[in-house]
Amino acid sequence: MSKNFDVVVIGGGPGGYIAAIRAAQLGFNTACIDEWKNEKGGPAPGGTCTNVGCIPSKALLQSSEHYEHASHGFAEHGIEVKGLGLNLEKMLGRKNTVVKQNNDGILYLFKKNKVAFFHGRGSFVKGDANGYEIKVAGAAEETITAKHVIVATGSNARALPGAEFDEKLILSNTGALAISEVPKKLGVIGAGVIGLEMGSVWRRLGAEVTVLEALPTFLGAVDEQIAKEAHKLLTKQGLAVNLGVKIGTIKAGKNSVSVEYTDAKGEAHTGEFDKLIISIGRTPNTIGLNAEGVGLKLDERGFIAVDGDCKTNLPNVWAVGDVVRGPMLAHKAEEEGVAVAERIAGQHGHVNFNTIPWVIYTSPEIAWVGKTEQQLKAEGVQYKAGTFPFLANGRARALGDTSGMVKFLADAKTDEILGVHIVGPMASELISEAVVAMEFRASSEDIARICHAHPSLSEATKEAALAVDKRALNF
Ligand code: FAD
Ligand code: NAI
Repeated sequence: MSKNFDVVVIGGGPGGYIAAIRAAQLGFNTACIDEWKNEKGGPAPGGTCTNVGCIPSKALLQSSEHYEHASHGFAEHGIEVKGLGLNLEKMLGRKNTVVKQNNDGILYLFKKNKVAFFHGRGSFVKGDANGYEIKVAGAAEETITAKHVIVATGSNARALPGAEFDEKLILSNTGALAISEVPKKLGVIGAGVIGLEMGSVWRRLGAEVTVLEALPTFLGAVDEQIAKEAHKLLTKQGLAVNLGVKIGTIKAGKNSVSVEYTDAKGEAHTGEFDKLIISIGRTPNTIGLNAEGVGLKLDERGFIAVDGDCKTNLPNVWAVGDVVRGPMLAHKAEEEGVAVAERIAGQHGHVNFNTIPWVIYTSPEIAWVGKTEQQLKAEGVQYKAGTFPFLANGRARALGDTSGMVKFLADAKTDEILGVHIVGPMASELISEAVVAMEFRASSEDIARICHAHPSLSEATKEAALAVDKRALNF
């Protein structure tokens, strides 16, 4: 195998493996280095997303939702389930199979696109504008060279001081996806995306879940009306969300964890949990990269410092994904990876940060793109709003899932869509229409005049667009 490459990508998560494939498509002799190991010590490319993030969490969300439907939802449809049981080992096994299918899929894609894959840790040895030497420390140690380097080393779960992850009692996302017995009492610190998704999984499987969140508002980054609705729906399901708490001492015993905290009123509590998930955000990962050795600049928060084009301070060294500023989302990492490969080829790769969708895969799902009402108010933008509840949507009624709404925000003068916010069934799929519309700088009237299939959930999108002009037809 050649040891001299045009492009070497360090990290094989969604940012890295997609960048490598795109670089190879563009004719570059490309290598990707990734150190993730499966339980047999073999390669498991795909990064956090594939191994302990997007993919396994969605597998468990799906399985646990089936379980919840079978135990609570089917009866309404006249389906009687007797002797329902939970085989958690099988459920976790299925999740592991889904992960492996994705790992194998990436290895196949590398072969198909002639990307050389190195299993091990990549670190800078030396280099300048003429090229870089990268050491790969895996089963064997070798050095490869690259004209261009793309760093895509991702992120790690942030620990709370004094409560390091042991993945037995105090769990990061890794442990939260592999609990072998449903805990009776599950504590979750942080009511962010992971806290709500993993809290939902284990609640559906039977755990009593207590979420402890420092901020006084629920999902502060989400449009307030949508966040309020989501809060109401999730707490009604039994997720106990405590806002405005201050976490004190966390002590892991032999079989349980105690968490001292004060609530929003300042009253002291001690929570006793069988397991504790800590999901308070993630930190960029530059461990073992030897960034300092080659003078690769990090910012004050430890992210690799990049400009708008993902260029670092070093010539021909780029960085993408969770290890750089911006939302920590797989699709953002992928978009940056593609854009960088295209820039290396002299093309004009572009990532539009205004149209990156967000999805929280709770039930109902929460999804949005663009500005929230709070942001528009703060920016002094004149806007019109239109909402449409799923309660008035025929397909939602047939599904038996009428919770939530679609909300449009459009410029008061031009009617350009500025933001779309959804809490409701299949919001993750519905949001795509809004993303496309915003990419084409559509107006709410454009959506309102497009024919949507009946009966479909997407009619709620059309109706919300109509509601901007106060002419919803079914509500
Ligand atoms: P990563 O996926 O973290 O990949 C980095 C890779 O680089 C890893 O394989 C790592 O081992 C490797 N690496 C690091 N250093 C080196 C080195 N020196 N040498 C060799 N290899 C190295 N995002 C979504 O968009 N949708 C979701 O539904 C979603 N769900 C999530 C659920 C959970 C529980 C978590 C934790 C995250 C989730 N995310 C989701 C976020 C998503 O996983 C990340 O945004 C995404 O993985 C970032 O991609 P990346 O390529 O930048 O980094
Ligand atoms: P997060 O940033 O989404 O949420 C962290 C929460 O913890 C916040 O609400 C914060 O106020 C709270 N918090 C912080 N410190 C705290 C403390 N000391 N005590 C109590 N609460 C505290 O981070 P999370 O959930 O860890 O997820 C990390 C990232 O992973 C997400 O931001 C997202 O980018 C990505 N992700 C995306 C998913 C998706 O797209 N569906 C799913 C899961 C993760």
